[in-house]
Amino acid sequence: MSKLRCLPLGLDFRALVVLFLIVPTAIIGIYFHGQKITYFLRPLWQSPPKPFIIIPHYYHENVSIETLCKLHGWGAREFPRRVFDAVLFSNEIDMLKIRWKELYPYITQFVLLESNSTFTALPKPLNFEINKDKFEFVEPRLTYGKIGGRFRRRQNPFIEEAYQRIALDQLLRIAGIQEDDLLIMSDVDEIPSAHTIDLLRWCDEIPNVLHLQLRNYLYSFEFLYDQMSWRASVHRYKKGETRYAHYRQTDYLLSDSGWHCSFCFRYISDFIFKMKAYSHNDRVRFSHFLSPKRIQERICKGADLYDMLPEEYTFRDMIGKMGPIPHSYSAVHLPSYLLENAEDYKYLLPGNCVRESGG
Ligand SMILES: *[C@@H]1O[C@H](CO)[C@@H](O)[C@H](O)[C@H]1NC(C)=O
Ligand SMILES: *[C@@H]1O[C@H](CO)[C@@H](O)[C@H](O)[C@H]1NC(C)=O
Repeated sequence: MSKLRCLPLGLDFRALVVLFLIVPTAIIGIYFHGQKITYFLRPLWQSPPKPFIIIPHYYHENVSIETLCKLHGWGAREFPRRVFDAVLFSNEIDMLKIRWKELYPYITQFVLLESNSTFTALPKPLNFEINKDKFEFVEPRLTYGKIGGRFRRRQNPFIEEAYQRIALDQLLRIAGIQEDDLLIMSDVDEIPSAHTIDLLRWCDEIPNVLHLQLRNYLYSFEFLYDQMSWRASVHRYKKGETRYAHYRQTDYLLSDSGWHCSFCFRYISDFIFKMKAYSHNDRVRFSHFLSPKRIQERICKGADLYDMLPEEYTFRDMIGKMGPIPHSYSAVHLPSYLLENAEDYKYLLPGNCVRESGG
């Protein structure tokens, strides 16, 4: 008898526990970690893209260009193609200098466009113009363009980004790009190695469009995340056809072609600017993510600024990349200008994670 009477009571108690403990905990949990939960389940709702056809890459400084072209199954040309390097610029001053010094010997025209608006419609200074004196070495080969932002609040940032890329197409025509010239399409911090561009300008039957596989670094060359940055691409320019883009455009990917150093900034203030300005600004879910002290701690640990899970398509890859990136102590095969000016860029080299606060 007593058992029967206890049962409804017990049920009530459990119902109360669910109502007042588990439900609020779950709601708080989803509020703070919702993004993590959906990312963790990503392998279930999204299948991986079609794999790339990876082209093996051969290089040694003492091997002739004829031999290198032949190793790739290509012929060597009698004279090299002209090469255009085009970027949309925001605030990556140091990366731009390292990039242009790396590529300098092989570039016909450096093409740079900057806007007074971020992709997220915040006003920004014309950082390139302000720092122009650091780039005098490219002056005779520079086509520089400015574009006014449209400042449409609450618009998807990818629309402003697309608008700026269309303007870059026009700037390339002003720079004098011609049929079959090589065009590098990549963000400032996606730096092809000089020998990769030299190979592509000298060899004959390279694919019309080719993605470059770059080593992915975060914060500096101390944190090597993986080898699989692929968005940078090189095009043999076709009039009326080639459009400046930063998404997947072909299946071909040339292995080991350079470096992609994300969030490789000198000043903490640059990190904060970038976190607010770029197209994924929705990742700044809490204002404490912008605290300089927290940012500095994350940089030294190699941990994610947004407290997010790795964006991977399989549980195996995701779990393998969870947590901070291990420290790397290799500074072998980095851009030469970086090593020749190591004192000035020491924050990019292993063992120097502490940043200046900046303006
Ligand atoms: C590269 O070639 C130069 C000149 O022919 C030679 O002195 C040097 O030893 C070579 N280096 C390597 C690593 O083979
Ligand atoms: C951005 O540039 C455009 C064109 O030069 C100008 O008309 C506009 O006033 C500028 N806006 C800001 C916020 O600086």
